[in-house]
Amino acid sequence: MSILVTGGTGFIGSHTCVELLEAGYDLVVFDNFSNSKPSVIDKIADISGRGFKFYHTDMNDKNALKRIFADNQIECVIHFAGYKAVGESVEKPLMYYQNNITGTLNLLEAMTDAGVKKIVFSSSATVYGVPRKVPITEDEPLSVTNPYGRTKLMIEDILRDLYVSDDSWSIIMLRYFNPVGGHESGLLCEDPNGIPNNLMPRILDTVFGKQEKMQVFGNDYPTVDGTGVRDYIHVQDLAKGHVKAVERLMRVNEIQAINLGTGRGYSVLELIKTFEQVNNVSIPVEFSPRRPGDVAECFADTKKAYDLLGWKAELGVSEMCRDSYKARLMLMQGSDNA
Ligand code: UFG
Repeated sequence: MSILVTGGTGFIGSHTCVELLEAGYDLVVFDNFSNSKPSVIDKIADISGRGFKFYHTDMNDKNALKRIFADNQIECVIHFAGYKAVGESVEKPLMYYQNNITGTLNLLEAMTDAGVKKIVFSSSATVYGVPRKVPITEDEPLSVTNPYGRTKLMIEDILRDLYVSDDSWSIIMLRYFNPVGGHESGLLCEDPNGIPNNLMPRILDTVFGKQEKMQVFGNDYPTVDGTGVRDYIHVQDLAKGHVKAVERLMRVNEIQAINLGTGRGYSVLELIKTFEQVNNVSIPVEFSPRRPGDVAECFADTKKAYDLLGWKAELGVSEMCRDSYKARLMLMQGSDNA
């Protein structure tokens, strides 16, 4: 029996594959490399010391999905595949709905046809919109502000409807807060196409001279130092959360939404300062106006993850900054040009 991982060579997918292989699971992985590189396949195998079956394909190819389920004994699916850039989703909503929604429907249909009814879905804290309070619990009202977020919420709704129609499904929707870091080996990291929007890739671009200064969006929020506060979580912790979710799916038939965060918020300036200290670099900062759509504070209530999965984040911001830097350094040194 195998676990099918969609989008398995992406940032979170690749780290999760390593954790699953190390935990002894057999994997079937597919990706279309729209935001990742083929060389990641070998890196996952090198780190874990184990091989796995890989398909270069797309979730919009219904026949390919059918074949994957026909050719393998799949017990459970972890669904990462999807576009994820907020700004791009505002410019190209149809592309986002087509890929994320239609692709997921294709996957769920293929699963239904094959009688596979266990899925972990890669959701996001974006489904909380502007939070009414922090820390954010899973029962907070859901709302979204852009097409990317809407695809996450729509897929959650689709999964809830599916469970209502057939409660022999087991579904866990993991709502990630702000994933950063890289594999401790330095071999896996976030390698976004184009100009990144997120804080950590921007810090790295500044450190490596791709931009002169770090723009900090807003210093007048009602927070510890006026800059935005987020719940940054190390991608290796996040990956371990998926292994725990799979373990639970094997035991229980249910639908659950579960936050994956550390439960602790850090401001933009705190993160930048930690990065400077841990990696012994200096990061020039420039304050600019608030970024439209940003909220002051966002961090997770992590009790449900602990109660249901027995999981909590173990790595702190120092490790996040250390591993983000190390992995980008190795990438820059040309260990990955495939
Ligand atoms: N920030 C800067 N300068 C930058 C980039 C970001 O000051 O160059 C600030 C932002 O204003 C914010 C913080 O850094 O205060 C974090 O911003 P990110 O863009 O890294 O992350 P967000 O919290 O805005 O969004 C992330 C993901 C979304 C996801 C959301 C869920 O990018 O996909 O978390 O909460 F939906």
